[in-house]
Amino acid sequence: MQTYLHGRDMITTQEWTKDELDTVIDVALDLKRRRALGEQHALLDNKVLAMLFFFSSTRTRASFEAGMAQLGGHAMFLDSTTTQIGHGDTWKEIGEILGRYDDGIAIRNVDWGIGNKYIRAVAEASRTPVLNMQCDWYHPFQALADLLTVIEQKGDPRNLTFNMSYAYAASYQKPISVPQSVILLMTRYGANVRLTRPPEFKLMPEIVAQSEENAKASHGSFEIIEDFEEGMAGADVVYAKAWGSMLTTSDHEESAKISAKYQDWIVDARRMEMADEDAIYMHPLPADRNVEVADEVIDGRWSRVFDQAENRLHSQKATLLKLAGLLP
Ligand code: CP
Repeated sequence: MQTYLHGRDMITTQEWTKDELDTVIDVALDLKRRRALGEQHALLDNKVLAMLFFFSSTRTRASFEAGMAQLGGHAMFLDSTTTQIGHGDTWKEIGEILGRYDDGIAIRNVDWGIGNKYIRAVAEASRTPVLNMQCDWYHPFQALADLLTVIEQKGDPRNLTFNMSYAYAASYQKPISVPQSVILLMTRYGANVRLTRPPEFKLMPEIVAQSEENAKASHGSFEIIEDFEEGMAGADVVYAKAWGSMLTTSDHEESAKISAKYQDWIVDARRMEMADEDAIYMHPLPADRNVEVADEVIDGRWSRVFDQAENRLHSQKATLLKLAGLLP
C-alpha cells in the first residue's frame, strides 16, 4: 500500500486559510532553529517529491532538494526537455503516473497563458498534492519565504509600509508571478501595501481586486502608485524587481520599447535614502545587477536578499509537513 502526502495542493497562498499560513510560518521558524542546533528532523522518511521543471531554476530546485533530504525523503528532479512530454505525455499522464509513483508533485511552468492552467490540470489528475514552484500567475513559495523574512526582520507586518515596486530590466520579460503573490500575501497580513509600477506594467485585475479585499479584511491598505520615487518615500520594505508588460502587449519588440522608457527605475543608494532610515531591500533573485538594482544596495546594509533565499528552505519544509498531515 502506498502512502501519500495528503492534504491539499499549494498553488496560491490565497487558497489557504490564515491559520494554515500562520502554522507554516511558526513551523518554519522552528525548523530553522532545529537546523541551527543540528537536531535531526527526518519526518518525511521514505517520501518522494517529484519536481518537474519547464524553466530554469537555482534556488527553487536547490531548496526543495535540500529540504526533502533534511526531512528524510527524496526529491526527484525532472527536466521537461528530457521527459516524453515532447512526445505526447500530457498533463493527464503526468498527474496520473507521477501521482502513483510519488507523494507529491511540484511543477514550475511560467509560460504565459499556460503555466497555471497546466498545474491545475495536473492537480485534477493527481491523487497526491501538487505544489506550484512558479507559474505565470503565482510564486507562492517565494511569497511565503518573503513573509517569513519580513516577520524576522521587521516583526508583525501590520502598520509596515511595504513597497512592491517595478524596476527596470532588459534581460527578458520576467513573469508577474512574484509581485502578484507578494501583494496577495502581504495584504493578508495587514501591511500597508503600495504597488508601484508604470502604467504599462499592470498586474492582473482579479489579483489587484483580491489584494484590495485582503487589505480591507486585515485592516491594512492597498494603493497603486505610478511614480518610482513616490513609492520609495518612507517605505519600511522596498521590494523592487522587474516584470514584463504582458498585460499590455504580447509583441516582443513593443515590450522592449516600453521597458526602455523606464531605465531610470533602478534601486540605488539615493533612492533607498528616500525610504525609512531602517528600511530593508528585498529581491527574489536572480537580479540584473546595476540594471534593476545597484551593487551598493544589493550588497549594502539594506539588503536581505540572502535571508530571503535561505527562508525558501525553511518555509518549504514547513509546507511539506503541513501537506503530509503532520501539522494541525
Ligand atoms: N527566486 C527563485 O525562484 O529563484 P530560482 O528561479 O533560481 O528558482
